[in-house]
Amino acid sequence: MARGKLVVFEGLDRAGKTTQCMRLVETFKRRAEPVRLIRFPDRSTATGKAIDAYLKGESEQEDHVIHLLFSINRWEKVASIEADIQAGITVIIDRYYYSGCVYSAAKDNPTLDLSWARHPEVGLPRPDICIFLDISAEDAARRGSFGEEKYETRKMQERVRQLFGVLQSSPEGEDFVKIDAGASLESVEERILEVIAAIDAHVDIEDLPLRRV
Ligand code: TMP
Repeated sequence: MARGKLVVFEGLDRAGKTTQCMRLVETFKRRAEPVRLIRFPDRSTATGKAIDAYLKGESEQEDHVIHLLFSINRWEKVASIEADIQAGITVIIDRYYYSGCVYSAAKDNPTLDLSWARHPEVGLPRPDICIFLDISAEDAARRGSFGEEKYETRKMQERVRQLFGVLQSSPEGEDFVKIDAGASLESVEERILEVIAAIDAHVDIEDLPLRRV
């Protein structure tokens, strides 16, 4: 049986990831292609609840501790992600370890840079593609309900965008496809479908084992 694909969406807060992930899931369903959507952080688990409280400003966490909680939150899902992919289900993930690395490193804590942040993520299933919805921090701030959670400040988002740029110019960057998220919802969706069709056309996913970070 052909394995499913692992497709990740990344970008700043308010880039439109969640909307586009949901639309992509609907497209898969219309085509009767098996699909599962996961969103990180998954706020329903014990670690997810601690993360949720932190993001809402209801609790404090040391920078390394919250970083590791986000990582645990991903590791909790690894077995089920791998099982689904092996069963032919495409797994779409709304934020993954790339967010994990850049948001933590954006705090400019001297002992928590991108390289430190990446360590606990090593061994996670590596995406077949990471679709980066690119928006400026300025445009993100203009979108609805920006500013409700911990990292939704202009300064933090600018640093996050800069660090996503650093990741994209590292070897990790080969997984990224950048799409202008400032365009209309429909044209962003069209571009996403083209990108997914291109991996179908160029890579025999079923012949490639799932890689690891
Ligand atoms: P969300 O708005 O997509 O639910 O993400 C919540 C916030 O958590 C967002 O500002 C990005 C941040 N984040 C991290 O700091 N580390 C992570 O590993 C993930 C997945 C998200």
